[in-house]
Amino acid sequence: MPVGSVRCHPALLLLLLCSARLWAAEISCRNEEGEVVDWFSLYKLPKHVKGEIPMLGLEYMYMDTLAPQWQLSKYLINMTQGALGQTLMQLYDTYESEKNSIAYAIYNDEVPKSDSNAWKRGHTKGFLLLDKSQGFWVIHSVPLFPPIPEDGYQYPATGETYGQTVICITFKYDQFTELDQQMLSYNPGIYSCSIPDIFQADLPNLQKLCAGSRLPSGPLRHLSKLQSAHGETFLHFAKSHFFIDDIYVAWMAQELKTDLLSESWQHSGQKLPSNCSLDYHVYNINLIQTPLNSTFYSINDHSKWAVSREYKDQWTCIGDLNRAAEQAWRSGGFICTQNEHIYKAFRHLITHYESCSEASTLL
Ligand SMILES: *[C@@H]1O[C@H](CO)[C@@H](O)[C@H](O)[C@H]1NC(C)=O
Ligand SMILES: *[C@@H]1O[C@H](CO)[C@@H](O)[C@H](O)[C@H]1NC(C)=O
Ligand SMILES: *[C@@H]1O[C@H](CO)[C@@H](O)[C@H](O)[C@H]1NC(C)=O
Repeated sequence: MPVGSVRCHPALLLLLLCSARLWAAEISCRNEEGEVVDWFSLYKLPKHVKGEIPMLGLEYMYMDTLAPQWQLSKYLINMTQGALGQTLMQLYDTYESEKNSIAYAIYNDEVPKSDSNAWKRGHTKGFLLLDKSQGFWVIHSVPLFPPIPEDGYQYPATGETYGQTVICITFKYDQFTELDQQMLSYNPGIYSCSIPDIFQADLPNLQKLCAGSRLPSGPLRHLSKLQSAHGETFLHFAKSHFFIDDIYVAWMAQELKTDLLSESWQHSGQKLPSNCSLDYHVYNINLIQTPLNSTFYSINDHSKWAVSREYKDQWTCIGDLNRAAEQAWRSGGFICTQNEHIYKAFRHLITHYESCSEASTLL
């Protein structure tokens, strides 16, 4: 067929436009090109980094299903063009126009434009958006973030100095029922939400939390197996504030049967040392080196994650709680995966961690 005879048939064009629209309407984690991705993770670097990268405290490393290795983003975290902005914009853009068919919740123990610290609620930060087909869940470590939909995308200045982690996972609708069950132990401090009645049967706990009601007391802790839209397995650990212990040592390491290296906020006066008391040990990381060869000390990091010490175990967990004594009294959780790319990306960052004997000599 001569090239000249190829014409765009009107019906075909319409079909293309329609499928583009459908594609665009699919609620999903978005990458830095605005494309749908099964998951992404980003690591906002602290201001105090030694190395080549100019440090405003807004630069971040990014990876997703399509590009599963850390890359320095061409965007800054305060820009809507990045994956976090693109993903959140779906919430900001769609919920006004499609109020009755879309559910969302935004939670944080430190609420933007508010002095109240929701200490009775979980030490948890995140947001989710879904319709009856699918949606996403973002878990992050940034205080005072994100703004409510009325205010639009902004990144708080208070989130610049320290490192922060973010993970986004796309789930089919049925997984949100499972996630709703986690709320009984997780008890997030929701500050902006809409859970229309069509979701009542499947998301009863989120709906109650959204309405400001108390939930019946749930299990002390609950482990939930979730599948991403593309079939990747994630485990979600949720502990209530009645499970009074260090989630890393007392639960995650023993449950996953793996020694963990943990990175978390270590400014607290009640910082917990590396712990080798139980079958599986947990060691505090103290120095990070990025693939761009810049380094930073864990004291400059507000992120919360842990990885298996041994490469064969391959666990990565990203979540809400620090290794600090007072966090035993808080609810919160971690999402864990054995995805080899996520594991390698985080495991390779670790340059030094504190052994148990070092910890005791420091005491
Ligand atoms: C992001 O922060 C940088 C540095 O403070 C600033 O120059 C820039 O205008 C900000 N961009 C947006 C979109 O807020
Ligand atoms: C290690 O952690 C467990 C569980 O929290 C705790 O019972 C134990 O006392 C800790 N060991 C040390 C040496 O701190
Ligand atoms: C980082 O350092 C290693 C070892 O010195 C070197 O092989 C690698 O090329 C460096 N990477 C960058 C991005 O500079």
